[in-house]
Amino acid sequence: MTRTVMSRRGFLKSLAGLSIVAAGGVVYRAWDNGVFDVGAGPAYEPWHDWRDDMGDGPLALVRAGILASNAHNTQPWRFELAEDRIAVYADHERHLGAFDPYRREMALSLGCAIENMVLTAKAQGFAPRMELAQDRFGLGGPAHPERPVAILHLAPGEAEESELFRAIAHRHTHRGAYDREQPVSQALQDEMQSLAGGRDGIRLFLFGGGPAKARLGELIVSATEEIIADHAMAMDSAAWFRFDWRSIQQHRDGVTLDTVGLPPLINAVAKIVPAPSPEQADQQWLDATRNVHVATAPLLGMITVGDLYDQPTTLQAGQLWQRLHLWATARGLAAQPLNMPPERVDREAELGLEPRMAAALTGITGDAGWRPTFVFRMGHAERPARLSPRRPVEAVLAA
Ligand SMILES: Cc1cc2nc3c(=O)[nH]c(=O)nc-3n(C[C@H](O)[C@H](O)[C@H](O)COP(=O)(O)O)c2cc1C
Repeated sequence: MTRTVMSRRGFLKSLAGLSIVAAGGVVYRAWDNGVFDVGAGPAYEPWHDWRDDMGDGPLALVRAGILASNAHNTQPWRFELAEDRIAVYADHERHLGAFDPYRREMALSLGCAIENMVLTAKAQGFAPRMELAQDRFGLGGPAHPERPVAILHLAPGEAEESELFRAIAHRHTHRGAYDREQPVSQALQDEMQSLAGGRDGIRLFLFGGGPAKARLGELIVSATEEIIADHAMAMDSAAWFRFDWRSIQQHRDGVTLDTVGLPPLINAVAKIVPAPSPEQADQQWLDATRNVHVATAPLLGMITVGDLYDQPTTLQAGQLWQRLHLWATARGLAAQPLNMPPERVDREAELGLEPRMAAALTGITGDAGWRPTFVFRMGHAERPARLSPRRPVEAVLAA
């Protein structure tokens, strides 16, 4: 009997020992994978120190440019500085492959960076003037990779620190649930339309409710399903997901777990358990798109263009998205691009498939002359969005 009790005690002791070791392992893994360091470390420094060297002229503009929204956080840009101008280049090594066969999203991303730079130029007392290269997108790579897509000329002007400029480091893509009971008011939608006005060849569509909003929501979900079923697209997207702390700090790019919009506790658990396979990650993405992103969106919107594959128009469409997202940030609104439908339009065109997604989108705009290049949602969210990593400014300066 005594021996039995002793051995039971011994068993319980060793169980306790094992639990402590296991808990230690979990805590170690949590520590190792950045559970306690959300938004910390060198990969996030560009968000904190972007205004430290505001006297740096063109370099200060680049510090703001790299904080812009950009597809899959590929940061597909390089900048060449002179005293009175900045040349903006596409970095084709950071191309999204089958996900962006015409490099349309790359140009949208460059447009976003340009908008941050224009706002910062004005805040610094420059009168910026944009010169956009007249190019078209085609398959098989850029026709003129050595040419800048844009040159930002800087002449002295009146200093103007706008609310959009002040929002630059507070703007983050929000992939969590939005409050469906809180609509984006008509007055706010009118402000958005006035931000979009006066641009030739670009038109903003907004859907706060009704059948067009429901239909666009369906297309966002079905485009996501089609992307997941398209192996090349799914793989080229998965290549930019960073699941562990070390690869985030090493690459300083890509989409991270912290930014997928999970509640804090689930986010912490997701960092401790093994990373999902690409197939599991795709399924989680589809579920979130259907049940969170679309289901809780009070407002869906589309930036449309007259010519889907015209480079200067696309750069300006990117500028408009950056402006809208900064404006939303200044108004306390959350926003997220949901650009899967136009991504499928590109892929249909590349593969010579029947243009089903393109036709379905025309069913929403009611006019084949306006082609969606950017789809997004907006609303009010309970928690703020988290920071995404950025490469240091030195890494994006042309030699
Ligand atoms: C052209 C373009 C397409 C994008 N498409 C999506 C998208 O479909 N889904 C999404 O969640 N975010 C999308 N984004 C947002 C980027 O993933 C995000 O800007 C990037 O990860 C950097 O994060 P940040 O915006 O928080 O700085 C897109 C951004 C751009 C400019």
